[in-house]
Amino acid sequence: MYKLDGTLNIPGCKSTSHRQLILASMSIGKSEITNLLEADDIKATIQILKLLGIKIYKRFGKWIVYGNGTNGFLQPKKVLNALNSGTTARTMIGAVCSNPIKCRFIGDSSLKQRSMSRVTVYLEKLGARFKLTKNDYLPLETYGTDKLIPEEIIIEKPSAQIKTSLIFAGLNISGKFSIREKVLTRDHTERLLKYLNVKFKNKKEKDGSNLIELEGPYEIYAKNMRVAGDPSSAAFFIVGALITPGSKITLKNVMLNPTRIEYIKILKKMGGNISVVKTNKISGEQCGNISARYSKLKGININKSLSPFLIDEYPILSIAASCATGETKMNGLSELRHKESDRIKSIVLNLKKVGVRAKSIKDDIHITGSSNLNKKSCKIKTYGDHRIACSFMILALLNKNIKIDNEKCVSISYPKFKRDLKSLLK
Ligand code: S3P
Repeated sequence: MYKLDGTLNIPGCKSTSHRQLILASMSIGKSEITNLLEADDIKATIQILKLLGIKIYKRFGKWIVYGNGTNGFLQPKKVLNALNSGTTARTMIGAVCSNPIKCRFIGDSSLKQRSMSRVTVYLEKLGARFKLTKNDYLPLETYGTDKLIPEEIIIEKPSAQIKTSLIFAGLNISGKFSIREKVLTRDHTERLLKYLNVKFKNKKEKDGSNLIELEGPYEIYAKNMRVAGDPSSAAFFIVGALITPGSKITLKNVMLNPTRIEYIKILKKMGGNISVVKTNKISGEQCGNISARYSKLKGININKSLSPFLIDEYPILSIAASCATGETKMNGLSELRHKESDRIKSIVLNLKKVGVRAKSIKDDIHITGSSNLNKKSCKIKTYGDHRIACSFMILALLNKNIKIDNEKCVSISYPKFKRDLKSLLK
């Protein structure tokens, strides 16, 4: 049987790579971005920014971006294709709608089934206009204006993409514009704005909500940036080490943003032997090295209130739960239905295929694990969802009869996933 042993540098964070590219494009002057994630989702953002008149290229390992300011996107001559990337589509819709241009956004067959009205309803309140397919989906058209009216927006759903879309629009809105999210979600945009010396207010309120007060329009001055390693990518190897006997790994250069590493607390609660050592701060984000070794895991109950902080890690947590003794209950996962696949369905269906006792009850998933997984052969149906593919490639370390229908889809967030996994295999 395989074990994982060794040290690995984790590639750049996907969420931060999008944000650094977009904010560099909305700055004035030249920015250099290092350790940018070079994955399909990020390529979609780069391509769209180029079509909006931004000069972007790679030189000596660094990405160079010549920003045109917060009001600097030019009328694109072609449609803007967000491919599979929800973050690209939703955040760029916000970024372009406060510029006086008309854009048409399209996406692949998965993205075309994901809601876009979740961002346009708020942007419409500011005066932007849109035409959506079936009132909710791509292809959609944006009719932007540089005369959006600031408002007090309260975001009901926990979604960093909605928040970021509104912030990007707000950077070119004149006057006081407040955005309140009822529950804090990943805060990379806020951290980057602070790093770029953008003056705005950000308070965590007593009721738990996160209040952002902008007063634009802003002039942002270009500053070099670096992307820290993606904690969601690190999670695959951490779980891989926890479930394969004899494993011992260290992952370097991982972002330790508190909104992203809740899964480490969960895995520790399950009995995982994981240690974290802080290192340096990179473009507003704390980084560190994470070590993990094989551990006997036990099932736990994961509270609904934690779901915004675990949103991308439920697939790999479900693999940990499958190898833990006892039952794990993951509660309140309704947002998982709106990801690259309906992840409640894709997790449960595939766990059943590999012989794990798993069921979904409304928006909860219950998994009864075992430290002795059977060796059934089966083919995993990824639905083209990169996190489902990576997660089951990790479970396949314990059962080489597990095959994946579409390993290539890992290129959406981690093109070198297989190579990096192999480098740790002993
Ligand atoms: C992301 C936010 C999350 C996450 C997605 C990336 C982002 O979605 O699932 O992979 O970069 O803002 P939400 O909008 O549901 O928070």
